[in-house]
Amino acid sequence: MASAALSTAACSSQICASKSGIFAPYHASLYKTTKGSGPGRDRRLRIACQATSISADRVPDMSKRQLMNLLVLGTVSLPTAGMLIPYAYFFVPPGNKSAGGGTYAKDALGNDVVAVEWLQTHGPGDRTLTEGLRGDPTYLIVEADRSLATYGINAVCTHLGCVVPWNTAENKFICPCHGSQYNYQGTVVRGPAPLSLALVHADLDDDGKVIFVPWVETDFRTGEDPWWT
Ligand code: FES
Repeated sequence: MASAALSTAACSSQICASKSGIFAPYHASLYKTTKGSGPGRDRRLRIACQATSISADRVPDMSKRQLMNLLVLGTVSLPTAGMLIPYAYFFVPPGNKSAGGGTYAKDALGNDVVAVEWLQTHGPGDRTLTEGLRGDPTYLIVEADRSLATYGINAVCTHLGCVVPWNTAENKFICPCHGSQYNYQGTVVRGPAPLSLALVHADLDDDGKVIFVPWVETDFRTGEDPWWT
């Protein structure tokens, strides 16, 4: 069996490199003796070396190289950014679009709530969930005179965070998780929830769309500072 394996230190590229140097152009043939398959037979392995380096006077100017690098970088990065920005924008929830510091209320289909249209299908005393600030479920309230209330009620229970449904028969919000109850304005009337439901302002823009705005003033139900700010 042939034992023509060269030691790792004697591979052709290293032999050539040691002979040619880094920048010196070089072209030569080397011979290494190896044992053949027949008894007593030697082989001469011819290794052709050809330097791959180029002379110093042929190296392109460094400033030209840098300019080319910048051109390539610009050519690649502009289309890449053009693709990535719309891709990232896709993941921004539509409900997070702000309107002068507030957020447009969204109905169950994700459409902006228009007050006039809403009141055509929601009667007095109605409390229906919409998407509010930070995507929180928020009740939009229709008053007895068929107008929209100027406040909305955050439906997240103050006990452990369940969404509290409106119970029309009981005229209360009753949490299905541990039984906490809130009156028609969201004031806690039975624990274990420790606090009333949070409030938001429900304003209208020039087109009659409902905008939820953070409530930072005194809680009109308790006369206390809002706990949620
Ligand atoms: S989460 Fe509502 S009562 Fe516990």
